[in-house]
This record gives sequence, structure tokens and C-alpha cells, in this order.
Amino acid sequence: MIQVKSLYKSFEGKDVLMDINATFDNGKTNLIIGQSGSGKTVLMKCIVGLLTPEKGEILYDGRNFLNMNKREKKTLRREMGMIFQSAALFDSLTVLENVMFPLDMFSNATYRDRVKRARFCLDRVNLIEAQNKYPGEISGGMQKRVAIARAIALNPQYLFCDEPNSGLDPKTSLVIDELIHDITTEYSMTTIINTHDMNSVMGIGDSILYIYQGHKEWEGTKNDVFTATNDRLNNFIFASDLLRKVKEVEEHGR
Ligand SMILES: Nc1ncnc2c1ncn2[C@@H]1O[C@H](COP(=O)(O)OP(=O)(O)OP(=O)(O)O)[C@@H](O)[C@H]1O
Ligand SMILES: [Mg+2]
Repeated sequence: MIQVKSLYKSFEGKDVLMDINATFDNGKTNLIIGQSGSGKTVLMKCIVGLLTPEKGEILYDGRNFLNMNKREKKTLRREMGMIFQSAALFDSLTVLENVMFPLDMFSNATYRDRVKRARFCLDRVNLIEAQNKYPGEISGGMQKRVAIARAIALNPQYLFCDEPNSGLDPKTSLVIDELIHDITTEYSMTTIINTHDMNSVMGIGDSILYIYQGHKEWEGTKNDVFTATNDRLNNFIFASDLLRKVKEVEEHGR
């Protein structure tokens, strides 16, 4: 579980995050949603330590991240897996070598065991047959799956995904979403996903935090979305006519 308490972040006097309070449970896919520029990436970067907030607390299963010394932070970082907007694979390394990279960096296991672990992770994302290919030789969706395999190589307790579906078609996005969701429940990880993909919201929105211009505007689950009365949330979620119609049918069915 990750808790964020009264978090504030600004850049050159401009407030970007204001009084963010949130709890992200383990075993759940916790979504952060909001318009472009609302502060999702800045919030995630504060949580993982790539940015330092002005005020607030970030607790990793009770451990106060911002009060940690360098060594403690380094230990905690090894418990984190990250998937960024672009898959960010190393082009000159094979798929297998990409997944082995964090193991080579941080694990004391033997070479044999590191290969075994990397192959296990590639198998988990259904990509074992692509292990000797280079990122340039596989599709964008496959690259994302390699990024997921690499992110889980060290068995992280915490998984962070910033727009994991960007650049993917809806069907491939679904595969990625389901994969992240399954891995999250399987290993009881605390997973946080930034997205503005409404299919993800409806599909894997175990917990949803809606940010509007840097503050928490609403929180709930995918089931709560249909009955939510927050106008800003509804305008954001039901921006497409199709979803608005689904909501109407749901409401009239009740
Ligand atoms: N390093 C920075 N310096 C100054 N301003 C920044 C910096 N990083 C982000 N911002 C500003 O903070 C605000 C929030 O940006 P952020 O990237 O978190 O938005 P986002 O919700 O992730 O948007 P998107 O959906 O487009 O990814 C924006 O106004 C952005 O310009
Ligand atoms: Mg972003």
C-alpha cells in the first residue's frame, strides 16, 4: 500500500499539485486519470522520487519515503518497477538482454539463474519466442510487453505505469491492461497507472483518482463512475457520446 498525504508540488511558483491525499492498495490496479496537464506524471514522479515535492508525505507500507536517507531510498527503489510512456527499451540489446538488465544491475543471482528469471518473465507476458529479437524487430505492443517483463524481473512490490497504452490500438491496449491487472493480483503488487484511456477506466479501474488542475476532484471505483454526480468527472469521462449513452442506459435500468 502506498499513501500520499497533503502533497504539494510547484514549478517556479506555479502550483501543479495541491493537497493531494490518496491511498493506493496492493493487489489492485489504481488509476490516476485527468486531462493532459492535470498533473498525473508529476504526481507519479513525486511518488517514485524523480521529483521532490515541497510538502507532504509518501508512505510505502508505512515507510516514510521523503525522510529516508540515500541508502534507504536505494533499497526501496529495488522494490519498484516502472513502465514509461514509450517502452524505453535498449535498442542495441535483445529482448532477453533487456529483461536481464535490472537483474544484471541489482541481483546477486548467478548468470544461469538470471537468464532463468528473465525467461520466466518473458514467458509470463507470452513473449518467450521473441527472446533473441531486437526491439526494432517487434511491434509496439510487444515492446510494451517486454517493458512489463523487465519491470517485474526483480519481483517488485510496487509497479508504476505512465500511460502504458499510449500508441497502441484498442485491442492491444486491452491485452496490456489485462496483463498488468493479472500480474498485480497474482503478486499482490501495489500498482499505479496514469491513463486517459476510458477503456482502461472501465476495464481495470479497481480504484480511480481523478485529478483536475492539480487537485483531487473525485475518487472511486469503475462502478462508482456510472453513478457519480461530479460534473467535471462526468464531462471528462463521458466526453464521448457513446459512453454517455451507456450511462443513460445504466441509469434507466436501475
Ligand atoms: N519539469 C517541469 N518544469 C515545469 N513545469 C512542469 C514540469 N513538469 C511538468 N510541469 C507542468 O506541470 C503540469 C502537469 O504536468 P504533467 O506532465 O503532470 O501532466 P499530465 O497530467 O501527466 O499530462 P499528460 O496527460 O499530457 O501526460 C503541466 O502544466 C506541466 O507543464
Ligand atoms: Mg503525463
